[in-house]
Amino acid sequence: IQSYQPTPFLAGKKILISSGGTKERIDPVRYIGNDSSGKMGAALANVAAAAGAEVTLVTTATQPVLTQVQVVPVSSAREMGAALTAHFAQTDALIMAAAVADFRPDQVAANKIKKQGDAALTLQLAQNPDLLAGFGAAKTHQVVVGFAAETTALLANATAKLARKHADLLVANQVGVHQGFNQETDAVTLLWPDRAPRPIAEASKTEIAAEILAEVAPLIERHK
Ligand code: CTP
Ligand code: CA
Repeated sequence: IQSYQPTPFLAGKKILISSGGTKERIDPVRYIGNDSSGKMGAALANVAAAAGAEVTLVTTATQPVLTQVQVVPVSSAREMGAALTAHFAQTDALIMAAAVADFRPDQVAANKIKKQGDAALTLQLAQNPDLLAGFGAAKTHQVVVGFAAETTALLANATAKLARKHADLLVANQVGVHQGFNQETDAVTLLWPDRAPRPIAEASKTEIAAEILAEVAPLIERHK
């Protein structure tokens, strides 16, 4: 990113990015998490900032970002939702790169859970709010961008998500044990409600971020 000097194609634009995997607390020392590294969100934040945007990164991760990126650290899906809500009205584009946990423990134990003899433990999970779908439904002028990590039927599942969440652009990502999460590179397909899909061949996360943001810029102009 240090050597990445794009034209300031996002000058004066406010870009809100979520990244990392949310942590859903079980007890004071344990949580339910996922393998998201926050690298894609950090790449998006860095490229957007280098392109002149005013960037807010709401994240559970600790990836290094340029000093001009405003970082808002969060932990759970509900904290992430509250932080994004605080910025959404003033933003030009929201990019939901975070891996938001679908479920959280229904009850957070006040104390560390102890084994009870050799008994199994059942955790009751409640569904988290769908942040992207909520912002997609509530948007006025904002461009709303989602990600879809799929292990099967990538395009069919991602196309359904694009519509269900009222996203203006969806970045579809095939994930598997060695693909997608916590990798230095990615291969994605960009999906729009009104355009043919655009595959982007395997490239660094910085290059993928630059491709995504280059598509976000004209959407912002269209939504003004
Ligand atoms: N997302 C969100 N809030 C949630 C779950 C997901 O905002 N509670 C966002 C993610 O940040 C991502 C997009 O929705 O941008 C798609 O996430 P994904 O997990 O692929 O989709 P889900 O709707 O959760 O569907 P699935 O049952 O396939 O996990
Ligand atoms: Ca999910």
